[in-house]
Parts: sequence; structure tokens; C-alpha cells
Amino acid sequence: MKVFVKKSIEQLTASTEGETLKRTLGAGSLVALGIGAIIGAGLFVRTAAAAGEHAGPAVTLSFIVAAIGCAFAGLCYAEFASIIPIAGSAYTYAYATMGEIVAWVIGWALILEYALGAATVSISWSEYLNKLLGGGIPFEWCHSPMETFVTAQGQTIHGIANLPALLILVILSLLLIKGTQESATVNGIIVFIKVAIVLVFIAIGWQYINPANHHPYIIPANAPDIIQQNGKPYSYAPFFNHGWGGIISGAGVVFFAFIGFDAVSTAAQEAKNPSRDMPIGILGSLVVCTILYILFSWVLTGVAPYTDFMKSGKEASVAFAISNYMHGYGWLSTMVTVAILAGFSSVILVMLMGQSRVFYTMSNDGLLPKVFSDLHPKFKTPYKSNMILFIFVGAFAAFVPGSVAGDLTSIGTLFAFILVCVGVILLRKSDPDLPRPFKTPLVPLVPILGIIVCAGMIVGLPTETQLSALVWMVLGLLIYFGYSKKHSKLGTAGDILPTASDFEKQ
Ligand code: ALA
Repeated sequence: MKVFVKKSIEQLTASTEGETLKRTLGAGSLVALGIGAIIGAGLFVRTAAAAGEHAGPAVTLSFIVAAIGCAFAGLCYAEFASIIPIAGSAYTYAYATMGEIVAWVIGWALILEYALGAATVSISWSEYLNKLLGGGIPFEWCHSPMETFVTAQGQTIHGIANLPALLILVILSLLLIKGTQESATVNGIIVFIKVAIVLVFIAIGWQYINPANHHPYIIPANAPDIIQQNGKPYSYAPFFNHGWGGIISGAGVVFFAFIGFDAVSTAAQEAKNPSRDMPIGILGSLVVCTILYILFSWVLTGVAPYTDFMKSGKEASVAFAISNYMHGYGWLSTMVTVAILAGFSSVILVMLMGQSRVFYTMSNDGLLPKVFSDLHPKFKTPYKSNMILFIFVGAFAAFVPGSVAGDLTSIGTLFAFILVCVGVILLRKSDPDLPRPFKTPLVPLVPILGIIVCAGMIVGLPTETQLSALVWMVLGLLIYFGYSKKHSKLGTAGDILPTASDFEKQ
């Protein structure tokens, strides 16, 4: 059947022969690249949301659950990255192993990961900017219409649009259009700053931990309702808002903090020794981040009671915790805020770039219109794609709350991870003799566990988010059958396909 047409592995790898990208990245740089893409709004914003809404101090356990899911999926990613060491992503792997329609579904899910991920981080960027400006931006101009705030006088204010989030997206989209090669040095500096803030917060905050905040460690079913920032009560009684249900649901929320480690796989063509270094890069960055996240969330929930994160500490939660509970460290709060703004910008940039690469490849394969792969005559960047992407991402950033965009991002990514796990099992069956420089251990156990843990996290996310994701996927299938299938180069002619590497060469 045409919808299951596959790109051959030879076709993919042959396309990299003779290419000119320099193999300059060693294992260390790849780990740094991963950390640069990973640490962001997930840690500095979503941790507090997961603690406040679902897991309480046990958000540390949520991080462990999320890390386990990522490790299983990461081992599967590593096998693919070593077999198909070309620039690409889960989309490329799926095209080679499971056929076009699955590749399309993954590509469509990756839009949730990258585009909505960028929107989520830009919304978090807006929160920290507002904090830096002393809360000077009027509520209505830095929140979506779906958010409200009740003043001390009892007046309800509605959000209109999140303008700072739009601002950072405009700036970074223009930068992308002009063509930015984030050099390894710049990335190294940003990684250093991010890790430094996390470590400084852990070290100083440790002395301010109030043991009472860690008791009870897991939210009990009878925890009293809480009045939120918007004046509405929030109940901990539902299954996914306390106990182990809350921890699983919290894992789905903080899963956002791990998104990006798969970005290491996109650098396979630049790795000095991909078969050895890719797995180290992917799994190494995952291990380092997991350790940092567990310590960080332990300190954050020890410094401030988790219920604060449903009230005034809901936004820019780390800066909130420092300025309210770590007296004398006002300078740290400012420093952390500035560093977070820089760190978030690099995550948004990576995500916007990742998205335009996926669009570029899909468009070259004929699955999306040519406009997504048209290059700027001078800058040689997919500028039209960047502009369309800005409108899409900007609409979410301006009009949707960060929690909704964040949870949708998590679902899209978890779904892509599940398909990558399935892909490893299928490829072992269909092509058992293919040279695999890195082999996922214990197949099919590891991929199956990856599927179970990732699916569990999807189940724990809010029902409305699951439904929205479902609508998104149905829309994707309609587009596939209405447009992509008819225009697919592989499905219609079997031409020699251009690949992502063509883009890299620009
Ligand atoms: N992991 C990235 C972040 O937390 C997406 O911002």
C-alpha cells in the first residue's frame, strides 16, 4: 500500500555521502548540546505547576518517572541515531522503518513538540520578564484571554493577549530568517550559565529548606481545597491530583523539562564518531539533567510550600521562592531571572529551528507544500516557513495559557517517543542484519517499557488536553489523505529524495 511506502536506509545514508558538514562534535560537546536544549521552562516553570497541581513535594518522584520513560525512549533513539546517522528526527526514522503514514503522524506530532514547545517557553519568558520589571506589565497584556486574576479589591481582570511572548518570538524568528548558526562556543556559554544557576540555587536554597514543607511528602486525598490566583477553588480530591495518581500526572507535566534530549540526534552528521558518541550524548545529557532536576525540585518544594504555587507563586516560581523565602538574596533572584531569560531564548531558538527543519524535510518529501522549503535568495534560510511558523506559534503564545500549551507539547512528544519505541521493535524484525553500531539493550523489553511509561504519562494529563491532541491528530490525517499522499514524491514517483542534509549544506 502506498501509505506504507518506506525510504530505504541505503537511500537515507547514501544521501550523506560526499556531504561537507564537518565532523567536529565529540561526546562532551554532544552532552553539552543536549543540556543546552533541555534545561528551560520545564524546570523553571513547570516544576512548580506540577508540585502545586498534582504531586506536591513528591514532584521529585515525578521527575524520576519522567526520566525513566525518557531513558527507555532515549535508548531507542540512540539505536536509530547510530543506524541512520544523518540530520533528522523521529520523522526520518519512521519514514525508513514504518512507512510514510506513520512518518507523517510523527511529523505532525512533532509540530506539537517543537512549535507548541516554543510557544510554552515564550509564555514562561514573558512571566520572568514581568518579574524582572517588578510586575509592571498590566495583567491583561501578558496573559491569554483564558486567564483571569482577582485583585485584593475583588475585581476580576481578564487577560487579552500575551505581548511579551509575541515579542520574543518575533525577535527570534527574525534571527532565524537572517540565519543564525549558534556556535558551539555560544552554546557552551549558555549551558554553563544554566547549569550554574541551577547549582547555585540548589546550594544556597538547601540552607533555606523548611522540613515542614516536605510533610506530607505525597499529597493526601483529604488535602483541603485551595483558592487559586484566579479566585477559583482547586480540589486535590480527583485521582490525578493527589497520591501516586498525582505523581504520574506530575510526571506528564514535568516531562516537558526533558524535551530536547532527542535534539542531540539531529547532530548525528556532525558527530566525530556517531556510533559511540550519539548514545553517550543522548543518555549522558539525560543523566546529568535528571540529577540536577531531582535536587532542584527537592530544594524548591522545601523552600516554598507547594500550595504557594497555586497562588502568587504560580508565575516565575523560582524568582518568587527566592524573593519570598530566601531573605538577603534579592540579587540572586535578579541574576537568576536574567539568566533564565537568556536560557529560555536559546531553547525557543532551538525549537523554532527544529520545527523549520522538520517542515523543510517534509516539504522536500512532498508531504507539505513547497512553500515550507523555499529558501531566501540571500540568507538561504526557509524564511517563508519561519514566517508561517511565527504566525502559528505566535497565536498560541498570545492567546493560550502556558499550562495548556505545555501539556499539549508533552503529549505530542510522548506520542512521538512511543512510535520510536515501536519502530525499534519493527526494524529488528524487518531488517535483523542491519549493522547497528549501538543496540538498544533487551529488545523488546526496553521499548515495551518505554511505551508503557510514556503512555501512562499521557493518561495522567488533563482530559481536555488529550482531546485537543486527538483533534490535532485527526486534522493531520485529513491533511495527509487530502493533500500529502497525493503529492508524496516517494509515493508517486520514487524519485531520488532530497533530505535534511541538503538543508544543512545551505
Ligand atoms: N526542555 C525544554 C524546557 O524545559 C523544552 O524548556
